[in-house]
Amino acid sequence: MEKQEIRTFGRRHGKKLSTRQNWLVENLLPNLKPTTGDILEIGFGAGEHVRDLARENPEKIIIGAEPFMNGVASLMSAITDEKTNRVLDEYTGIRIWADDVRDFLRDTDSKFEQIWVLHPDPWPKARHEKRRLLSADFLTTLSKYLADNGEIIIGTDHWEYFDWILEQIKDTNLVATIPDMAIIQTRYQHKNKAGTDSPRYLILKNQ
Ligand SMILES: C[S@@+](CC[C@H](N)C(=O)[O-])C[C@H]1O[C@@H](n2cnc3c(N)ncnc32)[C@H](O)[C@@H]1O
Repeated sequence: MEKQEIRTFGRRHGKKLSTRQNWLVENLLPNLKPTTGDILEIGFGAGEHVRDLARENPEKIIIGAEPFMNGVASLMSAITDEKTNRVLDEYTGIRIWADDVRDFLRDTDSKFEQIWVLHPDPWPKARHEKRRLLSADFLTTLSKYLADNGEIIIGTDHWEYFDWILEQIKDTNLVATIPDMAIIQTRYQHKNKAGTDSPRYLILKNQ
């Protein structure tokens, strides 16, 4: 029997979806189900950065994983034509896994050039620490899905979580560098619930 996984995300549903969003979830989402891809973004929120990735990498398949259905619906609204509901040309490389990324990873043989995790839920209370996604175990799992020279790119404005991730990395075969990169604008970046000066980024590679 498989080990029961601890839930790493909060709610799956927020406010009621619009009629168009409901239509997109029912009719288009099944067609965007991923199999394999080149770039993965885990926990894309409303999908701003998934869209950036698609525009920057028009020849690649970008897979976004997000169990929060309002976020999935926001991304779908943004990548489709309002009148025809067809995916806009610049976003045809996007695939969406509307659930826990760990379920997707079990069934794919993808080797990713990049795996992005921006503002993972920090679960700041000590009793919730086990819900943090970027544990040594999960980072080790992710490392197996990296292509040669592939990178896991992490960003968080929660500096305590950042330091915690650095500790977790010590129990993996990954090596970390702290890049000097421009701040990536996402919904959580703007909220800056942690109240810190800026996010911190990490790039992890297999040794
Ligand atoms: C704090 S939000 C950040 C969203 C977005 N990256 C941003 O910067 O705006 C973290 C997101 O990770 C998602 N998440 C948490 N655990 C996940 C998992 N196991 N698989 C996929 N997404 C997950 C949550 O649903 C949530 O939307």
